[in-house]
Amino acid sequence: MPANQHRLPRFTADVPWQRWRQLSQRELTIAATAAAIVFFLLVFSPFPKPSRTFGGTNVIASEAASDWVPFTPSSNAQQNSAFCLDGSLPGYHLKRGFGSGSNSWLIYIEGGGWCNNIPSCSARKETRYGSSTYMDKRDQFFGILSRHQVQNPDFFNWNKVKVRYCEGSSFTSRPDTEFQNGTELFFRGQLIWDTLMDELLTIGMSESRQALLIGCSAGGLAALIHCDDFRDLFPKDTDVKCLADAGFFPNEKDIAGNHTIESYYHDVVHLQGITKSLNHDCVARSGEPSKCFFPQEFIGNIKTPVFLVQPAYDFWQIANIFAPKSSDPHGSWRKCKLNIFNCNSKQLDVLHGYRNSLLRTLNGFQKKPKWGMFINSCFIHCQTWAAGRWHSPTSPRINNKTIAETVGDWYFEREAAIRVDCPFPCNPTCVNQDLTDSDG
Ligand SMILES: *[C@@H]1O[C@H](CO)[C@@H](O)[C@H](O)[C@H]1NC(C)=O
Ligand SMILES: *[C@@H]1O[C@H](CO)[C@@H](O)[C@H](O)[C@H]1NC(C)=O
Ligand SMILES: *[C@@H]1O[C@H](CO)[C@@H](O)[C@H](O)[C@H]1NC(C)=O
Repeated sequence: MPANQHRLPRFTADVPWQRWRQLSQRELTIAATAAAIVFFLLVFSPFPKPSRTFGGTNVIASEAASDWVPFTPSSNAQQNSAFCLDGSLPGYHLKRGFGSGSNSWLIYIEGGGWCNNIPSCSARKETRYGSSTYMDKRDQFFGILSRHQVQNPDFFNWNKVKVRYCEGSSFTSRPDTEFQNGTELFFRGQLIWDTLMDELLTIGMSESRQALLIGCSAGGLAALIHCDDFRDLFPKDTDVKCLADAGFFPNEKDIAGNHTIESYYHDVVHLQGITKSLNHDCVARSGEPSKCFFPQEFIGNIKTPVFLVQPAYDFWQIANIFAPKSSDPHGSWRKCKLNIFNCNSKQLDVLHGYRNSLLRTLNGFQKKPKWGMFINSCFIHCQTWAAGRWHSPTSPRINNKTIAETVGDWYFEREAAIRVDCPFPCNPTCVNQDLTDSDG
């Protein structure tokens, strides 16, 4: 294990989330993980950002050793030439299931944005999101990945695989020509995906009676894009479903009226040769293939049952899609983007507008059979991998149901699982993130 396993940016030292009263060691670890993700989003986000420097802080984890899951490099990647952006080998963390979960498989795709041009992909190559060289060689499983029933009532004993993200296309890139302009960036996302799925089938996944494909953020988008192909890996009588956590990125104009995310996705799709991996019906009907990187354009074509966990006030979307720096030259959104309690009433009205738009977009999908959603009104991003958000006495609820309970109701078809929250700030169970100290 590398010595810097828990080396985290300075802002994790004084965990500023007062709502997380009396932090236990476990919660601290979760906070640190969350901070690491926030750190990624802020530092490696391809969108413009202020420059800043970081020191380091060690956070000690006290979790039982058995919750640590080692990294397994793919054994077929070398022969398939399925490389991370930098040419290193991709891989995953596998925790075997037990008891009644022995023939059930949950595949969890890590998130971490995308890259849209040669400089941003070259920079990514030097991080754990572009190279397994920089990855921690073990990881702790929480939330939907936890093997503890109290934390994870329905999936605790399943086989669990966390697929590491070491390229920049949500596992979809496959350009016709590579190494444009001598840059030596391996755009092999689709090949990595195919290689890893083949490998998992040979080590037990083919025996699945039940399977769930899930991902967070860019991994959530990957779970949607690959959903039907994943379903086709199994026999007809296997129960297969897909879940996107904070993976529903809407095609919205920013507050200045610019198409920031649309032009960003255009660049991602064309740089990395993603078109062939996108839904063919969608590509055929939309003039521009990159539109089919937006879930709203292809989710109606997905045949497999889908569940969306999506905060209506997703802080990543607010910072990068709705109010990116280019749309806010005077910085009047800067504080609001870091803490929703800093937003003035005009800004909140704008955010409510984005929520209304999301609900309108999702309205058409609520009636699809066996679909489900948990759309809460918290200022947060991914929620399934953290114990304090997934299922605990203090996690976010809608109609008194946690995300874990709602996802279980959906997967096992116990009851209808469409849960949509009232607008912010109506829900006192929200875990709202305060990113203020991360802006140094
Ligand atoms: C490669 O270089 C050419 C000419 O400088 C440029 O037009 C093109 O956009 C570059 N390709 C990439 C992928 O950056
Ligand atoms: C965004 O829109 C404004 C005007 O609405 C324009 O002046 C500005 O150049 C645009 N920014 C970008 C990055 O397109
Ligand atoms: C909410 O659910 C918990 C169990 O998860 C239960 O103990 C509690 O009574 C419920 N509260 C309400 C108001 O229904």
